[in-house]
Amino acid sequence: MTAKNPTAALASADFRSDTVTRPSAAMRAAIAAAEVADDVLDGDPTVGRLEAVGAAFLGKPAALFVPSGTMANQLAVGVWTQPGEEVILEERAHILSFESGALGALHGCQSRTLPGDGGAMDLDLVAAAIRPDFIHCPNTGLVAVEQTHMSSGGRVIPEAYLAELGALCREHDLPLHMDGARLAHAAVATGRPAADFTRHVDSVSLCLSKGLGAPVGSLVAGDEDFIERARFLRKRFGGWMRQSGILAAAGLMALEENVERLAEDHALARAVAATLDAHASLSAPPASIETNLVLCDVTPTPAAADAAALAERLGEHGVRVMALSPNTLRFVTHLDVAPLHNEQLRMALEAILGPPETTS
Ligand SMILES: Cc1ncc(COP(=O)(O)O)c(C=O)c1O
Repeated sequence: MTAKNPTAALASADFRSDTVTRPSAAMRAAIAAAEVADDVLDGDPTVGRLEAVGAAFLGKPAALFVPSGTMANQLAVGVWTQPGEEVILEERAHILSFESGALGALHGCQSRTLPGDGGAMDLDLVAAAIRPDFIHCPNTGLVAVEQTHMSSGGRVIPEAYLAELGALCREHDLPLHMDGARLAHAAVATGRPAADFTRHVDSVSLCLSKGLGAPVGSLVAGDEDFIERARFLRKRFGGWMRQSGILAAAGLMALEENVERLAEDHALARAVAATLDAHASLSAPPASIETNLVLCDVTPTPAAADAAALAERLGEHGVRVMALSPNTLRFVTHLDVAPLHNEQLRMALEAILGPPETTS
C-alpha cells in the first residue's frame, strides 16, 4: 500500500476533483524505467502488462488502454449501438451529462433517461423503457450504469441490484455497460473484488487517473470480440498511441499499489463531511458518505449568498472546491489531500461562517 503523496502537505487543499493528483516520485521513476515499443506496430510490452493486469482486476477476458474515461465509455457505446438506437441510462449519468453530447454526436444515438436512487434506476421503469419491436420506435441498443455514481455523491450501486439489472438486460438480449470510473472505490468500500460487480455487465470502464493517481489513462474491458471492435474504434477516434508504455507504467503502479489505500480517502471524506456538517448552514451528513465524494448542501448566509460565493471565500483561504449548483458544493478526497487539509478547511469555515453552531 502506497502512502499519501509526500508532497501533499505542501500543496493547497485542493478538494475540487480526484483528477488533480500529481504522480509521486516512485511513479515518475516507474515511468522513466518503463520498457516501451510502438504499440501500433509491435505492441508495447508495458501496455500489454497493464491490459492483462487490468483485465484480471476487472474480471473480464481482455482490456484496452485508452487516453480517458470519456473515450473508454464512448468506445463501449460505439461497439454496442447502431445509429438511431436508444441508450437507457440514469438521468444524471456522466455519459449523458458530461461527455460533450457524444451519444448523439459520435454515435447518432438518443438517450432514454430514468430517475435513480443513488444511480440505481428502478428496475420496473427500466423494463418499461425497453422498446418493443415496432416499426415506429427506435431500437433499444444499450443500458448503462455508473459505479460509483458521481452525481449522487459517490454512492455504491449494490451488487444485488446489478445482478437483477444484468438479468433483465440478458432477458431482452441487451448489452449492459458500466461506467466504472470509480469502480475501485466501490470495491474498497464494500470489501468486495471489483469482479463481483462487473460479472453482471458486458463491458466496463475504469479510470486510472482519478483516485488511483496515474497522470493519464483509462481501461475498457470486455470479452475478446468486444475488445477487437473497441480497438478498431479507438483507432477511428484517434486514440491509438505509440510508446504509451510510459503512461501504462504509471497505470500499472496505480492498479497495483493505490487501490487498497482508497480506504484512507473514504475515511477522510467522512471527516470532511463532519467538518462541514458542524455548521448550521451546511449539510453533509457523514453517515451518508460511502466513498470519496462529499456533496454539501449550502443554505445562504450573509457571509456566502450561495455555493459559488462560499467556494470563492474558501479559495481565499487556500481551500479549493467546486460548486456543482447554486446550493451544492462538491469535495473530493484523493492522494494529494490529507487530514491537515481538513483542518485547513475547518479553520477556513470558522473564519468565514464563525464557530460551528451544531455538532454532528
Ligand atoms: C463517473 C465518471 N465517468 C467518466 C468520467 C470521464 O473521465 P475522463 O475525464 O478521463 O474523460 C468521469 C470524469 O470525471 C467520471 O466522473
